[in-house]
Amino acid sequence: MNYQVLGKPRDRVDGRLKVTGSALYAGDRHPENLAYGYLVTSCVAKGSIRSMDTSKAEQGPGVVAVYTPFRPLKLYAPLSREEGGGPGDEQPPLQDRGIRFYGQIIGLVVANSFEQARDAAALIRTEYDPAKPVLTWDEGLPHAFAPKSIEEEGSTATVLAPGVTHIDDVIRQAPVSIEVTYREPMNHHNPMEPHATTAIWDGDRLEIYEATQGIISHRRTVASVLGVDEDRVHLLCPFVGGGFGCKGSMWMHSPVTAAAARDLKRPVKTVLTREQMFTLVGHRPALIQQVALAATPDGALQAVKHEVQSTVATSKVFIEAAAHRTSRFLYKSPNIQVSQKLVPLDVGPPTFMRAPGVAPGMFALECAMDELAVKLNLDPVELRMRNYAEIFPGKNVPWSSKNLAECYRIGAEKFGWSQRRSEPGVRLEGEWLAGVGMASALYPAHRGGASAKVRLLADGTAEVSSATQDLGTGTWTVLAMVGAEYLGLPVDRVRPALGDSMFPPAPVSGGSQTVASVGTAVRKAAESAIQKLIRLAVSNAKSPMHGLAPETVSYDAGYLAADNRRVAFADVLNAVDRGAVEAVESIDPLSHDGRYAYHSFGAQYCEVKVNRYTAEVRVQRVTTVMDIGQVVNLKTARSQVMGGVVFGIGLALLEQSLLETGSGRFANANMSEYLVATNADVPYIDVAFVEKPDLVFSPVGARGVGEIGISGIPAAVANAVYNATGKRVREFPITPEKLLLGESGSPRISVI
Ligand code: MOS
Repeated sequence: MNYQVLGKPRDRVDGRLKVTGSALYAGDRHPENLAYGYLVTSCVAKGSIRSMDTSKAEQGPGVVAVYTPFRPLKLYAPLSREEGGGPGDEQPPLQDRGIRFYGQIIGLVVANSFEQARDAAALIRTEYDPAKPVLTWDEGLPHAFAPKSIEEEGSTATVLAPGVTHIDDVIRQAPVSIEVTYREPMNHHNPMEPHATTAIWDGDRLEIYEATQGIISHRRTVASVLGVDEDRVHLLCPFVGGGFGCKGSMWMHSPVTAAAARDLKRPVKTVLTREQMFTLVGHRPALIQQVALAATPDGALQAVKHEVQSTVATSKVFIEAAAHRTSRFLYKSPNIQVSQKLVPLDVGPPTFMRAPGVAPGMFALECAMDELAVKLNLDPVELRMRNYAEIFPGKNVPWSSKNLAECYRIGAEKFGWSQRRSEPGVRLEGEWLAGVGMASALYPAHRGGASAKVRLLADGTAEVSSATQDLGTGTWTVLAMVGAEYLGLPVDRVRPALGDSMFPPAPVSGGSQTVASVGTAVRKAAESAIQKLIRLAVSNAKSPMHGLAPETVSYDAGYLAADNRRVAFADVLNAVDRGAVEAVESIDPLSHDGRYAYHSFGAQYCEVKVNRYTAEVRVQRVTTVMDIGQVVNLKTARSQVMGGVVFGIGLALLEQSLLETGSGRFANANMSEYLVATNADVPYIDVAFVEKPDLVFSPVGARGVGEIGISGIPAAVANAVYNATGKRVREFPITPEKLLLGESGSPRISVI
């Protein structure tokens, strides 16, 4: 495969706009006569509102309106996912007095300034009839239920060898086995840019600026809640300051703001506070995962059993499919069983968070594999290679492309894995204990239906547009690069455009699907535009190629060629007096015809130091090798993997949302107490790719890179902490107190 543009490093085309502050985000819009919304939220987790005294707030300076369940804005139920919508929460606020979670929207104050709206909101007196909420594992587990189905490419949840009726029999009789339980807290996405909506009505038409990962699905969903036709809604979102999944759904601040603007006949803008970001736009559920692995003495897995319990909201089912998306197929074994139960709590709806299902599932599976390797006295990489799955277990289909073995090998070489000492707790360096760990990485490859427009212009440039969005991942640049590749033009002659619902529709930027989906549509539209150019060139009497048979004309690098003639496309367009030729093309979602499985894979290695006295963990270096098919932009792909690694370090060591029992309030709903990994926590990250285009999966050869970077790192860090200290912490994050005192306060021998 000889690409001219794809796979090379390329600066972001929107980089200058971003670093100079010229990129306008949804909350940066200041239309004339703008009013500011401030959301009022509940202070109990369950029950109902008895009364709300808004009289003082209404008299506040600059206050325009105060909406509550007692003075509601009419909102309708959103279109469901089955109907093509994408709601994060299914119940529009202000329509009744019920309370389902702490921090739920119970009002909107609109004023002439943000400060006036916020101050007035603080003057509202709300009385509740509270009920006792369910907020802990102990309270919730008795209500656990199994979801109806978990769809993962039609694979069954259980594979058993002939003659085996219960996987537990295999585990009990196996020469070597482990059974371990891992616990993970809730996590919040915390993108830098908060959710924001600016709504402007012109008669019955709505122009809405929104921070979203899905322009088209957000438009459709917000229209359904407002009770208007989606054609009357124009959604704009040229830039997104991070999403990680929380902007993949439409949340209710958006229609509430738009409904207020409609009611007041005035533009209204609402920006969520950081604290509101913890209750109104989703979170990753908490999990308890039980993993049992059984093996022969030489490390052949006889059984893999992975049982997941994940939390949900009482009002919304969301499946954090941690086992179905990992243990079900990562390793070859004659007996595999995965299962999931959901535990309802009185919290806001959970949602997708970077590598949903996969990140927590790999945390459990890849730590368990490390524990098994220790028990077998086998190198962890060797254990993984001995159980390498060449085909999807129980389905007898190969992957469209899988180069995981190369990832293990290249990663081990680059990292210096052979220097590892398998005995834990023996590398003492001053007051630090050092150790290394590794884990596999994986993420499913998704390709949705998408469309794009390609225009060839008379000035010799080209335009590529699609109603996709760039949540910071680099889609602006990727659009230009894919367009340039298939038009044979330099990248700086291709202008990308996205972030506008008027453009040809594209799917949500979730599931790491944008490059494969939109890129494939761009390729098809580019090829179609070239065909139109050729037809124009041979049919128009003024064209220098008039009269030639179209099949004798070829296109190469911006020129049409036939016989010994070569004419630039701009010259053709000028000769026939046309400003442009353009083509709009759509592609269908990838059809799962059962012949292949589609995943990206990788290997991640890291070294940590753990302080002997304080148990502070510092990640020293990370090596990561990814098999993601064709890389499109080497620079932004590398950044995506690095971002995933940073996220993974946070999951392993820092991130946890603390739910206050009793109140249902997130006790650390701010950036000083919800700790994320920052520069000081992050070492040098060595990123490499096994560049093997996957043309079975997508015509651009790419499988996507947004989420896989996070998938193996948490386990790699945890395994390195074990190698450094000899201590297994199975409750994440691995904080110093757990290393010193043990989980849940139970005594543990100190690391000293
Ligand atoms: Mo990603 S959590 O699929 O936006």
